[in-house]
Amino acid sequence: MRTQVAIIGSGPSGLLLSALLDQIGVDTVVIDRVDRDYILGRIRAGVLESGMTALLDQAGVGARMHREGLVHDGFELSFGGRLCRIDLKALTGKNVMVYGQTELTRDLMDDREARGGKTIYNAKNVTPHDFDGAKPCVTYELDGVEHRLDCDFIAGCDGYHGASRAAVEDKGLRHYEKIYPFGWLGVLADVPPAHDELIYANHKRGFALCSQRSKVRSRYYVQVPLDDKVEVWSDDAFWDELRRRLPDDVAEKVTTGPSIEKSIAPLRSYVAEPLRFGRMFLVGDAGHIVPPTGAKGLNLAASDVHYLFEGLRDFYADGAMSGVDAYSGRALARIWKAERFSWFMTTLLHRFPTSGEFDLRIQEAELDYIATSETARRSIAENYIGLPY
Ligand code: FAD
Ligand code: DHB
Repeated sequence: MRTQVAIIGSGPSGLLLSALLDQIGVDTVVIDRVDRDYILGRIRAGVLESGMTALLDQAGVGARMHREGLVHDGFELSFGGRLCRIDLKALTGKNVMVYGQTELTRDLMDDREARGGKTIYNAKNVTPHDFDGAKPCVTYELDGVEHRLDCDFIAGCDGYHGASRAAVEDKGLRHYEKIYPFGWLGVLADVPPAHDELIYANHKRGFALCSQRSKVRSRYYVQVPLDDKVEVWSDDAFWDELRRRLPDDVAEKVTTGPSIEKSIAPLRSYVAEPLRFGRMFLVGDAGHIVPPTGAKGLNLAASDVHYLFEGLRDFYADGAMSGVDAYSGRALARIWKAERFSWFMTTLLHRFPTSGEFDLRIQEAELDYIATSETARRSIAENYIGLPY
């Protein structure tokens, strides 16, 4: 089999890249190691920057998001028993869209199916080859039979544990990593949100986040120790802990109900450099991870896709390699700024087991600075709505 761009990974990065390339008539095949239902069962991010919503529109898949997504003009920081609003609209002129990664992935999958795009699910031993030269290929197994996909380029959109980065481990790949000593316990429940905007809470018992998926579906998180097991957290224990970490008037408005998903995610900052090896590219989580506190993971995947799409578009227009050559540098310049912001928000809002009195006072001073300085709030707002592509 042959295609122009082989895309490993049918998550948001791979699907968005395939949709954009489809718009300009470039053929793609998407290969994933699991199936559609498994991918749609993963509950992840929920906040989209306007750069990402514009890309979804460009790819022709934004209609349901505009109908069902919630436009948020601000969010709240909670500390010392009060709320401090970051007025995104007033400070930057922009807003964010609250629309779950699951729904966005479903829209991209439905669109790909409607257009007759080829996706290979349940592929085993997916391996990129010969990307140092002009004729790369990807091999994979289906039901024990090996297949080979020849292509011009390979987009490694297969996440942190994928095959693409593994294939360049011995080719001069550099890693930059920070592991945080805690995780987030997340609960999804069909209950109305406690507040009309997101609340990021700094509390002495640990961080908490009130997010949402719709007017009747809420997503909440609490910081937990890394060795906590999800099985020990009953729904009641979760709701009690969440309420303790919120100001009283918000806690009173938390509607509880049975969880429909409950999981613990560890927090990590990670960047791989470079993101391009000959005719193969690392895109999205395959190349970098941010702790979720800045809501940047999914949005960074989108900006990577934008830069790579521009490079491939120029190549297929007139054979120019300059955009492809520039991919890694352009993407990394934006990635490191999102890494900085995600680290900053994580450090600002969590309790670190190693924190002493000095660290806590610095955290309080930083929060007070934000509450009293429009300049500080504008900087947070500028990063939260997303730095320009
Ligand atoms: P992925 O979504 O990981 O997609 C990669 C795809 O590649 C998957 O479908 C996978 O099955 C496939 N794949 C993997 N290995 C192979 C292989 N060897 N061969 C073929 N296919 C393969 N971000 C936020 O902003 N907020 C959050 O709350 C948040 N929560 C998260 C929770 C978890 C547990 C994780 C892992 C991430 C979370 N993120 C969050 C980050 C955000 O979801 C990611 O940044 C986003 O999914 C990146 O998209 P992607 O397409 O690059 O990677
Ligand atoms: C969600 C997750 C985040 O990490 C975040 O910063 C905001 C919202 C969410 O899952 O809704």
